Amino acid sequence: MEPDAVLTVSDLHAGYGDLDILHGIDLTVRHGVTTVIGPNGAGKSTLLKAIFGMANTTKGTVYLSGTDLLRLSNRRLLAAGVSFVPQGRCNFPRMSVQENLEMGAFTLPQRQAREAVSSIYDRFELLSAKREQLAGELSGGQQQVLEMAMSLVTSPRLLLIDEPSLGLAPMTLKMVLDEVKSISEQGVTVLMVEQNARQALERSDWGVVLELGRKALEGTGPDLLNDARLADLYLGGAALSETAVGDE
Ligand SMILES: Nc1ncnc2c1ncn2[C@@H]1O[C@H](COP(=O)(O)OP(=O)(O)OP(=O)(O)O)[C@@H](O)[C@H]1O
Ligand SMILES: [Mg+2]
Repeated sequence: MEPDAVLTVSDLHAGYGDLDILHGIDLTVRHGVTTVIGPNGAGKSTLLKAIFGMANTTKGTVYLSGTDLLRLSNRRLLAAGVSFVPQGRCNFPRMSVQENLEMGAFTLPQRQAREAVSSIYDRFELLSAKREQLAGELSGGQQQVLEMAMSLVTSPRLLLIDEPSLGLAPMTLKMVLDEVKSISEQGVTVLMVEQNARQALERSDWGVVLELGRKALEGTGPDLLNDARLADLYLGGAALSETAVGDE
């Protein structure tokens, strides 16, 4: 295992029922933000689900430092420091912001839960101002921040986030991805799946391209942004650096 690895995925084969979707993924996640991009159906969500024990793993290992995550129940995963924000908004729209955060803290003892929710309000002023409001009345971007905040209540070391900017307008999308970056800067390692490849890689330390259940490419965020192979497929045209394209 690399010395600075937070999460080490080795030869992961996983899927649903008898069908493997991932065919041997090796991945090292270090401090900072790692973004997974790739076409629809590539297995991006399946990768996060497999790490969180929600897919059927047929082969391989997933280690968080020295802990074998594949042996842990969901509750133990939370205790080990892993949180998961699945694809799509899934907070409780008819409950207040406060009640949603309490739901995020339900595995904690009562006093610890109160303190955890209160520290979330210190961290996210936006949520503090809206604590009595129904979650369903928040804007899309605010709901996504609430989703992430619910997952941070248990003070994870590793946060798995699936498409946080799904369905958001461009300005809101940037706000949410900036928030992801800021979460990582406060010491939480982030493994994120994102369709908005350029916006996500601009805020990522490391990027991985998944195709047909296999890793097609990986590198630092800046390297992938300048990679001509990615430009047309994922970055909406020319690579960020004109010189990188001109070198071809
Ligand atoms: N619960 C499930 N049962 C059976 N097959 C599934 C299930 N969830 C996903 N799949 C299949 O697994 C494959 C990979 O799906 P996955 O959701 O991991 O892709 P993805 O890369 O996240 O795609 P998208 O960009 O559309 O979110 C797809 O062929 C999908 O149909
Ligand atoms: Mg997906």
